[in-house]
This record gives sequence, structure tokens and C-alpha cells, in this order.
Amino acid sequence: MTQIEAVKGGSDGDPHRERLAAGNVEVRFANLERDAAEMARLFDQPSVIEHLAAVAPSITTRPDRDIERYARRHPEFKIVRATAEAIREYYESNPSSTALVAIIDDRVVGTATIEKAGFGTTWAGLSRLVVEDEYRRRGVATALIRSGEAFAFASVEDGGLKADAIQAGVIKDVEGSSGALAAFSKVGYRVFGERPGNTRSWDNERQEFVRRDTFNIYKELDQRRSALKEYFPKEAY
Ligand SMILES: CC(C)(COP(=O)(O)OP(=O)(O)OC[C@H]1O[C@@H](n2cnc3c(N)ncnc32)[C@H](O)[C@@H]1OP(=O)(O)O)[C@@H](O)C(=O)NCCC(=O)NCCS
Repeated sequence: MTQIEAVKGGSDGDPHRERLAAGNVEVRFANLERDAAEMARLFDQPSVIEHLAAVAPSITTRPDRDIERYARRHPEFKIVRATAEAIREYYESNPSSTALVAIIDDRVVGTATIEKAGFGTTWAGLSRLVVEDEYRRRGVATALIRSGEAFAFASVEDGGLKADAIQAGVIKDVEGSSGALAAFSKVGYRVFGERPGNTRSWDNERQEFVRRDTFNIYKELDQRRSALKEYFPKEAY
């Protein structure tokens, strides 16, 4: 497969393209007023918490004071509490982070965040990719990744970030991490490094934040206008 084919998702027989063409997943920009509570619900799934660096759990884990204590100790480290209010506040105070949501039958079933990298860099970050347990293996993550790529790659005049690549991190050795890696690999991401202990995420068993290793993954973007149009996130509503 050439790189462009990999970027565009391969042949017309790609099952995700068919499923998405069937119109059952829509990706749009998040409307934080309406969607933050739904995003909190997704982040709070026990199957998700360990995969998200610094998305502090609020329902299934310890009382808030531990999270507050952690935040005091590590003021440099941004913690998103998985409550609607904290999520709203996070995105409002981090305008370089844009949240996308995936919708099936009017329900928010997934989310991902695209981050504009620092001044002078030409890549964007994709993080906080989450799909509701019951809606997995239907191409929802794939749709979010593709829409994130279209938004990152599009020109500034077209409402995009004009990035030429996307980077993401996958936290290693937590249940399901091979699924996350497989989902990214399938649409052309390559591992370019392993970073021992470079991130913190929640440990469901120990009930605290722990250091974890990550895979850093990367994909160069080179999209055709038709793909940009097809996948560019819809307006928030
Ligand atoms: C990883 C995650 C986002 C995948 O979401 P999804 O909507 O089920 O992914 P897709 O349906 O788009 O899957 C695309 C491909 O990825 C691979 N894949 C996805 N989940 C997989 C799993 N659990 N095991 C093996 N392969 C998997 C498959 O190749 C799949 O294609 P197929 O269904 O045609 O075989 C979801 O499982 C999740 O929310 N996990 C917890 C949070 C997380 O790990 N986030 C990633 C942080 S980097």
C-alpha cells in the first residue's frame, strides 16, 4: 500500500469506509455546554480511565481530595477531572485543544481531542480518544481519528490547523492498549519511540496515579480535498 493509500484508508473495500458511508457515525465539534456531561460519562468508564493520561476519575475511584492533593503537588501537570464542569473549564482555558464528538442515533458515543502543537511546530496531537464500551468495533474511533486528521490537515482558511503530521501516545501495558495501538496502526500510524515512565495515569487496582510507559506514534498527513471534505468535522450544534 502506498503512503497515500494508507492515509486515505486503503481500498474502497475498507469496511470502515463502508460502515461510515452507511451514515451511522457522525463526527462534529463538541458543543461544550451540551456535550461535556456526555464526555465525562465516556471518560469515567472503568475501561477508559487507565488509558488517559491525567484524566482524573471522579466516579469509580477515590474521593476528590486525593486528586486535589495530586494537583497541588504537580501544578505543572494538567488534570482534567471527569466532571462536566471540569471538562468545560479545561477546554475553555486551553483554546489550542479542540474536542470532537462522535454521534450515533443522537447519542454521544465517542470523543477525541486535537491539540495544536507549540509555536513553530508543524504537527498536531491527538489525545483523549475514547469510545463507549457498547459501541466499540464499529469504526467509531476510526471516524474520530480520520476527522481529527482532516481538521489538523486543512488550511487555516478552511478552519483547520495546517499541520502536516499527527502525533499521539498510547499508554502501554494496560488492558486494551493493544486494541488502541491496533486502531491507530490500521489507519497508518507508526510507532516511533517508547518512552519509559513519561506519563501518569490512573491505576484502577492501586487507586492512584502511577507513572506509565508510552508508545509514541506518528503519521504524516497528505490528504486529498475529497477526503478532507468527507471527514472534516461537522459544526457543533
Ligand atoms: C481503543 C478504542 C478507542 C477503539 O475504539 P473502536 O471504536 O472500538 O475502534 P474501531 O472500531 O474504529 O477499530 C478499528 C480497528 O482497530 C482494531 N481494534 C480496535 N479495538 C480492538 C481490540 N480491542 N482488540 C484488537 N483490535 C482492536 C481493529 O483492527 C479494528 O478494526 P476491526 O473492528 O475492523 O477489526 C476503544 O477501545 C477505547 O475507547 N478504549 C479505551 C480508551 C483507549 O484505549 N483510548 C486510546 C488512548 S490512546
